[in-house]
Amino acid sequence: MGVLTGGGDCSGLNAVIRAVVRSAYSLGWEAVGIQESFGGLLNIKRSRTLRPVDVRGILHTGGTILGTTNHGDPFRFPQRKPEGVVYIDRSEEVVTNFKKLGLDALIVIGGDGTLKIGLKFFQMGIPVVGVPKTIDNDVAATQMTFGFDSAVSVATEALDRLHTTASSHRRVMVLETMGRNVGWLALHAGIAGGADVILIPEIPFDIERVCEKIRDRARRGRRFSIVVAAEGAVPIGGVQRFREKAGFGFEGRLGGIGESVADRITKLTSAETRSLVLGHLQRGGQPTNWDRLLGTRFGSAAARAAVEGKWGCMVALRPPTIQLVPLEKAVSNLKRVPRSSDIVRAARDLGISFGD
Ligand code: F6P
Repeated sequence: MGVLTGGGDCSGLNAVIRAVVRSAYSLGWEAVGIQESFGGLLNIKRSRTLRPVDVRGILHTGGTILGTTNHGDPFRFPQRKPEGVVYIDRSEEVVTNFKKLGLDALIVIGGDGTLKIGLKFFQMGIPVVGVPKTIDNDVAATQMTFGFDSAVSVATEALDRLHTTASSHRRVMVLETMGRNVGWLALHAGIAGGADVILIPEIPFDIERVCEKIRDRARRGRRFSIVVAAEGAVPIGGVQRFREKAGFGFEGRLGGIGESVADRITKLTSAETRSLVLGHLQRGGQPTNWDRLLGTRFGSAAARAAVEGKWGCMVALRPPTIQLVPLEKAVSNLKRVPRSSDIVRAARDLGISFGD
């Protein structure tokens, strides 16, 4: 079976690869590592057999030994031409090379975008099994993606650190987390890290309401405040902020909401405010024990599904078990934070403002 990692990296990818390789061998199969997402099926020279010995010592490491990219969709492959970037369909080459490599199944480890590509190849006849990855936790049909817990830990630790400096200086600190279309990461870290305001894409905010919360705290003698803003958060009636526009096969980089919220807070409350973008720290480094375990369970379940011919599926956490769900269902929509969820209600009960 081939195994590849696609999209943005996260902690726990190597735990999944290791589990796929070791489980494949236990089941009498051989594993082949495909380099840099589907790009490795356009250039097969860099694919290599992975034996259990090749995945030794990687369980606790960040990143992916296979490399990854978030701009190499073979169905819309970007090429630079004198007249600008053009997109061509190279999917047939992938199917041909899959056969050339003598593969019988393909484990696709990725988020929503990569899994959508995996589904299209399944529909073209490649026996695909998906594994849901992303720090955003936005893949539907699974309670959790791997990588999310590690990112929440990093953001929570950052909030703990911001708390002490915020209270020492009596400042408002605004932390911008990742979270393109959904606010799971900001929400979980915000609650775990004791934030006063959490801004997420699912709940557009009014900056006046954010400032009210900060003023209210000041009136009660709490002269510092902590705000967490997902990079995709939007003011009511506003649009998402981008640091870099879309181009050469990628969607564009979000960013800037934290700074803009901080500026507005300074103007409206005259509180001294600082902002910080946590960025790729959330994606790097050692996976938590939860992500090592979830990644191992996912990888092993994916290898078993491949061997048993259960293709076109994604492994999913449906506590207390790992189950198989149709890939189609998993990519049919993004898993957003429901406004009425118990976690949002708990946050509100604790006095956390969503700026609405
Ligand atoms: O999809 C995961 C994610 O971490 C998003 O939250 C973020 O917008 C994006 O990746 C950033 O990706 P990159 O900087 O690698 O292009």
